[in-house]
Amino acid sequence: TPNELALTPPMGWNTWNRFGCKINEKLIRQAADAMVSSGMRDAGYVYIVIDDCWQGERDAKGNIRPDPLRFPSGMKALGDYIHAKGLKFGIYSDAGQLTCGKRPGSWGHEYQDARTYASWGVDYLKYDWCSTYTQDAPSTYTTMSDALRATGRPIVFSICEWGVNKPWLWAKNVGNLWRTTDDIYDHWSGQDGYQHSVLAILDLQVGLDGFAGPGHWNDPDMLEVGNGGMSNVEYQSHFSLWAMLAAPLMAGNDLADMSAETKAILTNREVIAVDQDPLGIEASRVAKQGDYEVWARPLKGGGRAVLLLNRSATAHAITVDWADLNLPASLRMKVRDLWTHKDLPAARGSFTANVPSHGVAMLRME
Ligand code: DGJ
Repeated sequence: TPNELALTPPMGWNTWNRFGCKINEKLIRQAADAMVSSGMRDAGYVYIVIDDCWQGERDAKGNIRPDPLRFPSGMKALGDYIHAKGLKFGIYSDAGQLTCGKRPGSWGHEYQDARTYASWGVDYLKYDWCSTYTQDAPSTYTTMSDALRATGRPIVFSICEWGVNKPWLWAKNVGNLWRTTDDIYDHWSGQDGYQHSVLAILDLQVGLDGFAGPGHWNDPDMLEVGNGGMSNVEYQSHFSLWAMLAAPLMAGNDLADMSAETKAILTNREVIAVDQDPLGIEASRVAKQGDYEVWARPLKGGGRAVLLLNRSATAHAITVDWADLNLPASLRMKVRDLWTHKDLPAARGSFTANVPSHGVAMLRME
């Protein structure tokens, strides 16, 4: 790993999924306020990340400046505001000449920009891949990783090259997390945006689990929970699956205006504890029969997190066999349901739950 950071997957909030380029300093301050008042901070969410479109122009010396109309108080003041709430400050740039939103990128200004971010109190940098043409991904990301380290400030480095250059193969010592796919959209599945849906992204994670661990995580993209395009059952599944994947949990909704259901999903501490398990072993898909799947990951202390996923249009019973978990059939396991927060009767050999359409059962067994 490039630094001592992100020993568990980073948790926070990012502007992009809900607000895109329509951002300003007031919105960011309101999000920081809501992070605290909603209980999200106390549930573990810490980074407030400003994604694309915060940038204005470079000054005469080439120093990047924020858009003066949207961020009139400047980024140092905004960082101070975020820090005063007990939160951390994240920002975004791009490895090419222009960001995806056509603002100045960091190409040719890597060390200068890293020093600027450090002077603003930045704790996290997401680094995108637009307008990079023939640039080599490993060396491009290594340059910014080195630049961040040279500032002397601990800064989590989020590699966002959409999985196109298989970053799981080279980024372990470069960044703390790397996107494995193209952008997530607020869809469960289906033709419309299928490549970007929760299920499409989930399928692309199969086989990547061995590459993640403390300080270096696969990033299946940020959360869409609460953005309106899925049902609450689907959002609960999305969140559960991301926790199984030891994914960064970056909320992408409007924190200042969220339903009780959305808040309950995002702050489920038993599910968050699986995501944040100190062993940092990502789940793998251990069984699949058509639309019915079993995902499992080992937890510190010898237990397992087990998720039963029903992709079909009707409720269905799904069984995890101890053989799927490489455990002896004779073993008696305690079973806890992480969504009802109830201990279920202990089981031997297998466990079966009735799982709603597009739903999951998420269990802790020990
Ligand atoms: C592409 C990234 O994948 C998104 O997460 C977001 O950062 C946009 N670019 C911003 O333009």
